Amino acid sequence: MQNIKPISDPARPQVYIETYGCQMNVNDSEVILSILQDAGYALTEDIEKADVILANTCSIRDNAEQRIWGRIDQFKIQKKKRDGVVIGIVGCMAERLKDKLLEAVDLVAGPDSYRSLPELLEAITPSAPQINVLLSHEETYADISPVRLDRNGVSAFISIMRGCNNVCSYCVVPYTRGAERSRDPHTIVMEAEELFANGYKEVTLLGQNVDSYFWKTPEGEAGNVNFAQLLEMVAQISPDLRVRFSTSHPKDISDEVIYMMAKYENICKHIHLPVQSGSSIMLEKMRRKYNREWYLERVEKIRSVIPDCGLTTDVIAGFCGETIQDHQDTLTLMEQVVFDSAFMFAYSERPGTLASKKYPDDIPYEVKTERLNEIIALQGRMSLKSNEKEVGKVLKVLVEGPSKKNPDELCGRASSNKMCVFPSRGEKAGDYCEVEVVSVTSATLLCKRI
Ligand code: 5AD
Ligand code: SF4
Repeated sequence: MQNIKPISDPARPQVYIETYGCQMNVNDSEVILSILQDAGYALTEDIEKADVILANTCSIRDNAEQRIWGRIDQFKIQKKKRDGVVIGIVGCMAERLKDKLLEAVDLVAGPDSYRSLPELLEAITPSAPQINVLLSHEETYADISPVRLDRNGVSAFISIMRGCNNVCSYCVVPYTRGAERSRDPHTIVMEAEELFANGYKEVTLLGQNVDSYFWKTPEGEAGNVNFAQLLEMVAQISPDLRVRFSTSHPKDISDEVIYMMAKYENICKHIHLPVQSGSSIMLEKMRRKYNREWYLERVEKIRSVIPDCGLTTDVIAGFCGETIQDHQDTLTLMEQVVFDSAFMFAYSERPGTLASKKYPDDIPYEVKTERLNEIIALQGRMSLKSNEKEVGKVLKVLVEGPSKKNPDELCGRASSNKMCVFPSRGEKAGDYCEVEVVSVTSATLLCKRI
């Protein structure tokens, strides 16, 4: 493991990567770069200099895909400007659209085929575009040390598993990323140790459903590792290394995980717990395998063990057959829980999913938009309410760098993942600071030094 920094070297073939979608995709781009660097390529941030232009893509909603089609047209301009430029589409959209994309670009590679990128690139000719969209039951890229593309050198992602075995009826991910598989915990700990040795202060353990992480050893039960145990292994590397994780599933988040979070100060007190809807009828149709009461019980459990735990969520507006009452149920749940923040979306039907086959996408666009706007407005008020409770508290913040608005101020996150801004005393990214919250907006805690 020695790949931490990107190589820039004009003598090597230049690769340019754009990343769309989730944190998992950001980490996949780091894996791709590692594989390509080992094969002799160097990273460029200037598309005008690129020999290979890659887009690591997302299929989660239709608008994510439409954006990429627009980018492909722009990439093609580079092909006209210079000989030999190769355009590749990798990631979820590559997996979903396969041959259709191959008509437009030179390379199509799905999320489990990144090891073959050097050979695929080698084999491309104008008349022979290359494709590999095979999904795997084993690939976790466990032995590959991602090249870190973050800017601040403080916080890094570590993929602990790939794929997804849930079949939420609206979701394309099980089809684009394949079956769930967990990565050897010892390689995860090694990667986190290496990052810490290189000055990183925070790792985020990533998976579509981290609570179902499970490493089974052939030696027998004693060597098995579940998610709570993995959290402990990473937390024990150093009290100065913060541990975060995403995404949790309400049906799977266990008491063991909640107690493990409480046990270690450096396991950040934040859970991203997508609810999707507050209506048990919708949750059933979404195949989430929990209902409103179950979700609220999990929130209560979390708050009884970790009173200050940050809670964020995802919400979908206008799923198939959603009534006014179902929508109201979402609003009342949001009011009851008071999430710190939320990602909120209008339902977008994805071809091939269970919902697309079973349920008509029958909520008109205007109604979806209206409900989504109502949800967004409510969340704004809830974020403010949640932040107001922080006034007067003393928080430990990991400095990310100067604040965007004022270079004399620093910004960084509290354990709860809330963004804090406060006067600088010359600290740098990666330092910890204790601050006191003085006032808030719905997005930020404004703090003073103590
Ligand atoms: N339409 C709208 N939102 C979706 N999500 C997943 N699939 C869809 C879809 N078809 C949202 C969910 C998920 C987040 C990553 O994206 O809220 O938690
Ligand atoms: Fe990530 Fe899902 Fe988008 Fe794939 S489809 S990039 S897994 S959000």
